[in-house]
Amino acid sequence: MDDKDIYSGAAVVIPAAGSSVRMEAGRNKQFLKVSGVPILARTISIFKEMPEIDRIIVVLNPDEFDVFRDEIAVPYGLTDIEVVAGGADRQSSVYEGLRALDDMPDDAVLLVHDGARPLVTPAVILDNIHGACEFGAAVTAVPASNTIKITNSKGFSVQTPERDTLYEAQTPQGFRIGVFRRAAEQAQKTGFTGTDDVSLVERMGLPVRITKGSRRNLKITVPEDMIIAEALFAQPDPKC
Ligand code: CTP
Ligand code: MG
Repeated sequence: MDDKDIYSGAAVVIPAAGSSVRMEAGRNKQFLKVSGVPILARTISIFKEMPEIDRIIVVLNPDEFDVFRDEIAVPYGLTDIEVVAGGADRQSSVYEGLRALDDMPDDAVLLVHDGARPLVTPAVILDNIHGACEFGAAVTAVPASNTIKITNSKGFSVQTPERDTLYEAQTPQGFRIGVFRRAAEQAQKTGFTGTDDVSLVERMGLPVRITKGSRRNLKITVPEDMIIAEALFAQPDPKC
């Protein structure tokens, strides 16, 4: 272990309090089963099996505490997981998870990982932990595979950024927890809402390291993603 990897504990906050509008399933997508197991049970279990992770905080809509207990925690042996109530948007839900970790020292590692990404691997998670330790903040990402267009408000394409500079962000997004505390406080004070977690750190001018993601680390969002996820679970990653 390198000096840069020394940290006093690691926690993961798993936001799962969204309303799954795009999935159109009439319920929280994370309770749907993929290859026979609920998405959220799969996601939590990956972190539970890693010795590097000391605490797991799942953020839920309070209306779903009972469903979580009955369909996830009890059947899949996850009753020791900490559960907190989420907020109106993802950033607020993550903030509620962060508040549950007030007793962790500033040099501890915090990971934030979407409940809807059950195909993440320990290798991807470890890479992100190392990036967070060394640089203070790190985002799991993959190089963009499509050409991305900047458009104007009238529906015209006005610019094409060089693809080499573009990455698609995934989770986990990791931090020395002290860095994230400062960034989250600043965002609250200024009313800033970011589309991901590291954007709160970027806007403070602090470094955010890119760590190696995977095309398999899909966020289950729309009905078609259920089919892709089933296929991926049927064909395990040869690198793991
Ligand atoms: N999330 C959350 N609290 C919210 C909104 C989102 O904890 N208020 C969580 C979701 O449950 C999900 C993750 O953040 O695990 C990523 O969000 P997304 O995939 O957009 O899920 P939803 O917001 O539920 O889906 P949609 O946007 O289609 O409604
Ligand atoms: Mg959403």
